[in-house]
Amino acid sequence: MDDKLKDPSATKRLRTDAAGIAAAADSLRAGGLVAFPTETVYGLGADATDGRAVAAIYAAKGRPSFNPLIAHVATVEAALALGEFDADAEALARAFWPGPLTLVVPMAAGAGISDLARAGLDTVGLRVPSHPVAQALLTAAGRPIAAPSANRSGHVSPTTADHVLDDLDGRIDAVVDGGATEVGVESTIVACLGGAPVLLRPGGVPREAIEKVIGRPLTASTGEATIAPGMLASHYAPQAGLRLDVMAPAPGEALLAFGRDVPVADGPVLNLSPSGDLAEAAANLFGHLRTLDAAAACGIAVMPIPGEGLGEAIRDRLARAAAPRS
Ligand code: TXA
Ligand code: MG
Repeated sequence: MDDKLKDPSATKRLRTDAAGIAAAADSLRAGGLVAFPTETVYGLGADATDGRAVAAIYAAKGRPSFNPLIAHVATVEAALALGEFDADAEALARAFWPGPLTLVVPMAAGAGISDLARAGLDTVGLRVPSHPVAQALLTAAGRPIAAPSANRSGHVSPTTADHVLDDLDGRIDAVVDGGATEVGVESTIVACLGGAPVLLRPGGVPREAIEKVIGRPLTASTGEATIAPGMLASHYAPQAGLRLDVMAPAPGEALLAFGRDVPVADGPVLNLSPSGDLAEAAANLFGHLRTLDAAAACGIAVMPIPGEGLGEAIRDRLARAAAPRS
């Protein structure tokens, strides 16, 4: 992949004030690429109705294939107009939007989301983020914004503007710098395509909360490769190898710790949450992985993380980061 698609000095860092939001929205409306914070991770935005703008996302990320992208809008009503929502989908939309949930539903006739943003599917992934900067930008842009996580393909998702620039400086028009994101893992993705809702990706809304709203268990995703092609096993891969559920790190291994009882390690150690709080651990996950990846001489050992609540998404991302590279 060409690392010099654009002049490296060309990516602007915009503030979250009115002038910054206006500049970002103008750039999006003109077909540009603008990274922006959501409450989960930073997204790399482009006008979802403009196939050429969406194509530029794939080029900037160096994505090997066209995965369907999430279309972001500012309000529940705007999202409801873009898709065919069954009773479960509408209940989930009203319960969790704005927030870290993505719903995959059949696209509404005339919604205008470009084929490329949907990777040719007749469904659409929709999300109404709650982050005030995302809200302001989506309102100002006045159209659905396609946005995958703002990282190079195969890298971990960015939770700060600096992470975005580490991966994409010179390849995108601007990043709106809204500081560190709050949730830290991506949105939960649920498909409502008739029949029982299917969990495509665990994320910022815990499974238990979703099941409470729909009144029954979520179906597990089976044909993930065809339903959510972006969910490659090795999608969230740092360069260093990862070993999971480790209580005794090997000599020289970096340690990604969790909780109070941290084993002795002679490599670098970062703790996701010394108090054992899963929300804090999710917020720290990708930043700590990046830091340890840069520091690790011989791999990263990860302590066990409980699987309930946000722990399901954290364990999912760690399993992907540890998967053999394809
Ligand atoms: O928190 C998030 O979801 C972030 C922020 C920026 O919104 N976005 C994000 O996007 O994580 P991305 O592209 O890295 O992951 C989106 C996932 C992919 O696995 C993709 O395959 C799936 O959503 N997806 C999107 N539209 C879909 C559709 N119509 N059918 C099935 N899967 C879909
Ligand atoms: Mg991603």
